Amino acid sequence: MENNKSLINAINYRRSVRVYDSTKEIDTKIVKKCIQQATLAPTSSNMQLWEFHHITSQNIIDKIAVACLDQSSAKTAKQLVVIVVRKDLWKKRAKSNTEHLLNTFGDKPKSEYSSREKFALNYYKKLMPFVYIDFFGVFGYLKYGISWIIGLFKPSYRQLRNSDMRIVAHKSAGLAAQTFMLSMAAENYDTCPMEGTDTLRIKKILNLPLSSEINMVISCGIRKPEGVYGERFRIPFESIYKQW
Ligand SMILES: Cc1cc2nc3c(=O)[nH]c(=O)nc-3n(C[C@H](O)[C@H](O)[C@H](O)COP(=O)(O)O)c2cc1C
Repeated sequence: MENNKSLINAINYRRSVRVYDSTKEIDTKIVKKCIQQATLAPTSSNMQLWEFHHITSQNIIDKIAVACLDQSSAKTAKQLVVIVVRKDLWKKRAKSNTEHLLNTFGDKPKSEYSSREKFALNYYKKLMPFVYIDFFGVFGYLKYGISWIIGLFKPSYRQLRNSDMRIVAHKSAGLAAQTFMLSMAAENYDTCPMEGTDTLRIKKILNLPLSSEINMVISCGIRKPEGVYGERFRIPFESIYKQW
């Protein structure tokens, strides 16, 4: 690594910061680079059902801070990053993955595709539509019922209801959020993830469609010493670690 911290130092340095130093600026380009690094996080089926809204305008920061229930972490932030789940973009993302696969397979007739290549194409052309298509939650329950019956006889994928698919998308977004915060920590920049927010108001401020969901708002800046609330507290490791 160049000037930034090693991974373990970044993990130790990252704390949720509730008060940022108003006299210390952060570089928009570095925050943008950290967002780019966040997109390298893994996503379920590589569907990348996310968007990253990088808020640098003080006017919009002020509005979002109110929607963050006036939390000091948002009010004192120099910038904000809003991680948005876009489950509604599944068709577009499946198409992008299909196009990417076709590009990597090269110019050859379909009859020459290997079984692995055919499987990969079917994954995005058939399996993803099966998993993501829903109609007011009805198909989801139908698919869930089918998988439950199959599951009586053999291992079966069960996360097929609308609520399951939302969790699938939020899990991946959460991994991006942590990758972003660690990238920021490696740059000696501070963050705080926030879900104590009025997500509907934030969607309105950012002109987001109703079908989108706010995963997290992450405030960014440089910590004031008193902006870290006390020593880190974790449940004793042995009580949450189970080796089998
Ligand atoms: C999903 C999520 C939501 C959180 N929401 C808030 C929040 O709304 N406001 C806040 O001050 N901290 C929030 N936190 C930060 C936690 O309180 C914090 O991570 C925890 O106390 C551990 O402290 P540390 O991050 O400094 O290790 C959130 C953390 C996560 C992961």
